[in-house]
Amino acid sequence: MGEVVLVGGGPGDPELLTVKALKALQAADVVLYDNLVAPAIVDMARAQAERIYVGKRCANHALTQAEINALLVRLAQGGKRVVRLKGGDPFVFGRGGEEVEHLAEHGIPFRIVPGVTAAAGVGAYAGIPLTHRDYSQALVLVTGHRKDETLDLDWEALARPRQTVVVYMGLQTLALLCEKLMAHGLPGSTPAAVVERGTTPEQRVVTGTLATLSGLARSEGLRPPTLVVVGEVVKLQAKLAWFEPGEAVSSEARKGSQSA
Ligand SMILES: C[S@@+](CC[C@H](N)C(=O)[O-])C[C@H]1O[C@@H](n2cnc3c(N)ncnc32)[C@H](O)[C@@H]1O
Repeated sequence: MGEVVLVGGGPGDPELLTVKALKALQAADVVLYDNLVAPAIVDMARAQAERIYVGKRCANHALTQAEINALLVRLAQGGKRVVRLKGGDPFVFGRGGEEVEHLAEHGIPFRIVPGVTAAAGVGAYAGIPLTHRDYSQALVLVTGHRKDETLDLDWEALARPRQTVVVYMGLQTLALLCEKLMAHGLPGSTPAAVVERGTTPEQRVVTGTLATLSGLARSEGLRPPTLVVVGEVVKLQAKLAWFEPGEAVSSEARKGSQSA
């Protein structure tokens, strides 16, 4: 019997990979990776490791979730050391929970290596502290992905003051998101930002307010992957922005984004 190591590949900059993740990659027989993992990270796997793209971009659909689950079980039962490599952290909007449930049900040994989730990476590289004693005492992570054509979120909870709301997969529903937050009591002047491809040399940060952000994101032509950050902490961005995306984060990051 082999094993499956569920590995978080971080938000983009390959140097944000953990040492444990690197060790798992260098011991792997097979690596199954998603579309948001930087190619430079896949390159860090053992030279002899088989690399299987299972990514889930709509237009570039490789395997269904059920097929990925079945493949993980089959490979581990065949004695392979399998790395299941995901963007960010596997347990934050990454379906990692579903995959390890399936492994547990089939008696497959597994380990989990956490990764830097996009909110942490984007906050750091865009200069937006996610909490701050003066502005925000809570952090809420939500998905803006539509379910059954609606955004089924707890708007009252999201519209509370003195917290930061980070929305994954929220670009398509940004206008609705801002509208709902304002309708539930947040002022239109609440600072908000969209960060595209955070932590990579292509990072773009667009800041505005709940009233203006959706129009700005449209006029700037922002494209996924993006994170939306809403809260007073966003106003610190102008003061704390340190990362110059035009400059290489690291040679590995540049290599990763060029081949993406
Ligand atoms: C399926 S979720 C996976 C999240 C991942 N497990 C994590 O912990 O970051 C994919 C979404 O994460 C966000 N995301 C991931 N990487 C990003 C990046 N470098 N910059 C901005 N958003 C990112 C985007 O909202 C993207 O649509």
